[in-house]
Amino acid sequence: MKTLGEVLSVSVQFLKEKGSPRARRLTEELIAHVLKIKRLDLYMQFDRPMSQEELEILRALMKRAVKGEPFEYITGQVCFYHCDISVTPDVLIPRPETEILVDTACKYLKTQDLIGKTAWDLCTGSGCIGIAVKKSCPDLAVSLSDISEKALVVAHKNAQRNSCSVEIVHGDFLKPMVGRKADFIFCNPPYIALKEYLALDPSVKGFEPKEALVGGEDGLAFYKRLKEDLPSHLNKGAKIFLEIGTGQGKALLDLFSAHLWKEARIEKDWAGHDRFFFLEFE
Ligand SMILES: C[S@@+](CC[C@H](N)C(=O)[O-])C[C@H]1O[C@@H](n2cnc3c(N)ncnc32)[C@H](O)[C@@H]1O
Repeated sequence: MKTLGEVLSVSVQFLKEKGSPRARRLTEELIAHVLKIKRLDLYMQFDRPMSQEELEILRALMKRAVKGEPFEYITGQVCFYHCDISVTPDVLIPRPETEILVDTACKYLKTQDLIGKTAWDLCTGSGCIGIAVKKSCPDLAVSLSDISEKALVVAHKNAQRNSCSVEIVHGDFLKPMVGRKADFIFCNPPYIALKEYLALDPSVKGFEPKEALVGGEDGLAFYKRLKEDLPSHLNKGAKIFLEIGTGQGKALLDLFSAHLWKEARIEKDWAGHDRFFFLEFE
């Protein structure tokens, strides 16, 4: 019987030879998933023997990894801001940058009285943003919306998995919110320009849903819609937390330059790129 340590080193070598980027991390994630343990615990169980059944499951997962499938889809889960989030190919894999958005929002929300306040996570996908916010700020009434019914099935499952009571709404962007107003908006819309999409890494383009990535010809389609449609949906002093693409900061400042915004501010991600856009409604 092979030990975990032996299987790890042979598998890393195998993926390296197949040209997999980040072969070690990928192998660790897959073995941890098969053994149902945390990745960091692998190193305390190096001498643990792996059964034939475990090896067969691992072999099947490795075959998918060799084809470039992201490990998040292979294992079907992601840890996102203290939440266990299931992912399927119907939803975008939540990104670490988006956790910064949630962290910024939650730090602010925790200083506020949230009873009777409403928040919408537009373009919710897996539901990661709205669910993480609801889990951190249970007094807030949170609605998740998306145009993809399949994504909403995943979001619903994730809300249950994280014991979050949220409203789930289906439809095109703000259309399902007709006649309603919110105090907080979170949105990580599709923001890749069509031309940039064609140049994306095959692990993204080949596996993640195109509708979750492309925001029209210039990537700004959803922000332009927000500029037009959002004001009638906002309560006084509403706060908006948006994720944006690198290099879109100036365009966003230009779009939201009208007097109805008390504040419009760009913030950067850990790599120093424009990544977030915050607005405060008059
Ligand atoms: C970039 S993903 C964000 C997913 C998730 N919020 C996250 O941060 O990981 C964008 C989401 O927008 C949804 N979407 C695309 N077009 C839409 C539309 N017209 N109305 C509502 N949602 C839309 C996609 O289905 C996808 O789930």
